[in-house]
Amino acid sequence: TIPLVIDTDTAQDDCIALLAGLLDPRADLRAVTMVAGNVDFDHQVRNAHLTCNVAGRLGEVPIHLGCRRPMVRPWESAENVHGDGAGGLTMDLTGCEPETEHAVDALIRLAAENPGELSIVAIGPLTNIATAVVKDPDFVGNVKTLYVMGGSNNARGNITAAAEFNFYVDPEAAKTVFAAGFEIVVVPWAPLTLDQAVFDQPKLNEIAALGTPLGDFFTKVCAATLEFDRSVGIDGTTHPDSLTAAVLLHPELINRSARYHVDVETAGELTRGYAAMSWGVHGLEPNATVIEEIDAPAFYAYIKNLLATRTTLS
Ligand code: BDR
Ligand code: CA
Repeated sequence: TIPLVIDTDTAQDDCIALLAGLLDPRADLRAVTMVAGNVDFDHQVRNAHLTCNVAGRLGEVPIHLGCRRPMVRPWESAENVHGDGAGGLTMDLTGCEPETEHAVDALIRLAAENPGELSIVAIGPLTNIATAVVKDPDFVGNVKTLYVMGGSNNARGNITAAAEFNFYVDPEAAKTVFAAGFEIVVVPWAPLTLDQAVFDQPKLNEIAALGTPLGDFFTKVCAATLEFDRSVGIDGTTHPDSLTAAVLLHPELINRSARYHVDVETAGELTRGYAAMSWGVHGLEPNATVIEEIDAPAFYAYIKNLLATRTTLS
């Protein structure tokens, strides 16, 4: 199994990424760490607990609360895209409390407990990860691989023309992380997610037809984003976060990747959060592997199988 932590701003596809961490037999999910991003922080925490509950694992995986705003800027949400992030779903979560240890300390501790073994799947703004870098000089060396959902190669951002949401919200954190010396794998918004990890209506119908609690959960938590995506001309639901968890757990889903030097714009007037992905010609040392092509049918099959795994909620 693969020891991992998922660092998340839990809403919509973050929930599906958590399902992968919670239910994939290859995953040894050591903790979930929460970071300010998509929606109201308390909603995100509730969404993480809801997801553990539908996975039948409530109370089994520690949930740590992390940074509540970006390093130097005010928090900006994506509530217009995600609503409350879980389709208005409510469940009895009595008795279920997050850990008292801060997410940044948990990340540092878990990495130090098994140096070189822990992978991190970072699917929100990189505030917790950057803060851990700043706090503990050994953190970077203790982490095996950092999987980052963020950035867009050649722009085509989803929050501005230049930027993808996670990097836009906390560009200083993203810049800190790419300069830190981690082994990094990037799942970019464009072209990868946008062109290869969209589930169109026939696929969504198949998922709904599963009739399983997890299939119904998927349909519900993805509904708000589906509506938004359609309004901007995307033909289905987008799955950047679950794809990030999936490529860690199943590297065979990766058809092609390339080494880049990635840096993040913090000062531009129109380009805040832009991911400058520089290939060899600029003479910069590569610091990240960027995934460029996945086996899209296999990724869809993976998610569909995951959603078929539990047939009852108890
Ligand atoms: C990313 O931003 C969020 O809205 C999603 O959860 C995903 O992590 C995509 O840009
Ligand atoms: Ca996310």
